[in-house]
Amino acid sequence: MKRRLFGALLGLTLSAGVVGAGELKPMKLESPDLSRGASLMKALSLRQTVREYADKTITKRDLSDLLWAADGMNRPKEQKLTAPTAMNQQEIRLYVILPEGTYRYQASDHTLYPVKAGDYRQPIRGNMPALNIVIATEGNEKWAETDSGYVSQNIYLFCAANGMGTVVCGRWNEEAVNEACDFPQGVVPRLVHMVGYLK
Ligand SMILES: Cc1cc2nc3c(=O)[nH]c(=O)nc-3n(C[C@H](O)[C@H](O)[C@H](O)COP(=O)(O)O)c2cc1C
Repeated sequence: MKRRLFGALLGLTLSAGVVGAGELKPMKLESPDLSRGASLMKALSLRQTVREYADKTITKRDLSDLLWAADGMNRPKEQKLTAPTAMNQQEIRLYVILPEGTYRYQASDHTLYPVKAGDYRQPIRGNMPALNIVIATEGNEKWAETDSGYVSQNIYLFCAANGMGTVVCGRWNEEAVNEACDFPQGVVPRLVHMVGYLK
């Protein structure tokens, strides 16, 4: 029932999003490259917060794998994800803020859908990341913050394993992020990641 409601809201969001999306088009991402990156143990040894980034645009290959790692569909037959959610509520909603605009990530078809054109990327201590990932939730209130944490750690580990840097932020410029993401009613931002290449 909740998923049906989300589907209906999604339709509304998409049609509403397209209005502000300008020339942005849906971006079908590349299938995940399961052979890449350092081993899990190496990634754990490298995991750290990084707040300075190279001035470099993220490649589609890296963007595709980063989002799949964060909360992609890893068991399509069961419609299940790389990050667990309490009672399999799958309440995570990911927004990606790129230089050209903001997109919503849909795991089921591994595609970015336009939300709004324009550069709304948020800096950290004067450093501009290649992108931001906003981890938001819709419902599952008791566990929403816990479930967001798993996605955050997936992002940290992907970055550590693949020569990228990230910081998760519990505080951010709410006005700017709300403006960028046009969250539908009931969608609550929980964490904002800065992500970029190492300097
Ligand atoms: C829930 C949470 C919120 C955080 N919020 C911020 C933040 O708003 N700004 C920031 O610069 N770092 C933030 N951090 C990053 C922490 O400062 C960082 O994880 C901590 O200093 C430990 O460093 P490490 O990640 O390299 O182990 C946050 C981390 C967590 C887990």
